[in-house]
Amino acid sequence: MNLDFTTVLPSIPYILEGIGITLQIVLAATVIGFLLGILLALFKIGRIKLLRWIADVYTSIFRGTPLVLQLMIIYYAIPQLLDIQIDPIPAAILAFGLNSGAYISEIIRGGINAVDKGQQEAALALGIPYFKMMKDIILPQALKNILPALMNEFITLNKESAIVTVIGALDIMRRAYVVGGSTFRYLEPLLIAGVIYYIMTLILTFLGKMLEKRMRRSD
Ligand code: ARG
Repeated sequence: MNLDFTTVLPSIPYILEGIGITLQIVLAATVIGFLLGILLALFKIGRIKLLRWIADVYTSIFRGTPLVLQLMIIYYAIPQLLDIQIDPIPAAILAFGLNSGAYISEIIRGGINAVDKGQQEAALALGIPYFKMMKDIILPQALKNILPALMNEFITLNKESAIVTVIGALDIMRRAYVVGGSTFRYLEPLLIAGVIYYIMTLILTFLGKMLEKRMRRSD
């Protein structure tokens, strides 16, 4: 057993700085994923066949292929196609947002379907327009029920974000790897990265529980 943290000790602040990059990617991707998820979910439950089809195909493709592949296509292959250069962080935000949208749309669709049908019938009978009914009546109720699932998705994204290391974004994972390469000791920085991800997950879980409790109190 050869575990010695003294060599990597000075590099710990460098690894910790990766938390900012990781959070930046995950938070921005979550916002994109959430908005896209709502839109796709509305397409899926709507009456327009073409939109239903688009949303289904979209979900099928983004859930059916590896996220690391989508990330690499956006970062390496799109520039070849469009003649534009995209930086690692925006590429990561885009890839994670587009991917998460597919998952979140299914979560939201499930949440909307779980809201009692009578609510919709009552709203329509009262002459409330479809968009207003969705925004003010159905979606708020759906969101409350799917909060645990959304939190789960957020945690998944936070851990999955470690794959941005393949495109060179200096997140927690990449920094741990860089420190490993420069000190010739990989175990210690990787363990530190593991502890950081784990603590982040614990904090997110805690925040999710608090939010859930608060929403339940408003019932
Ligand atoms: N490793 C999985 C993949 O490559 C993760 C997908 C991301 N999951 C998510 N809930 N957004 O397909």
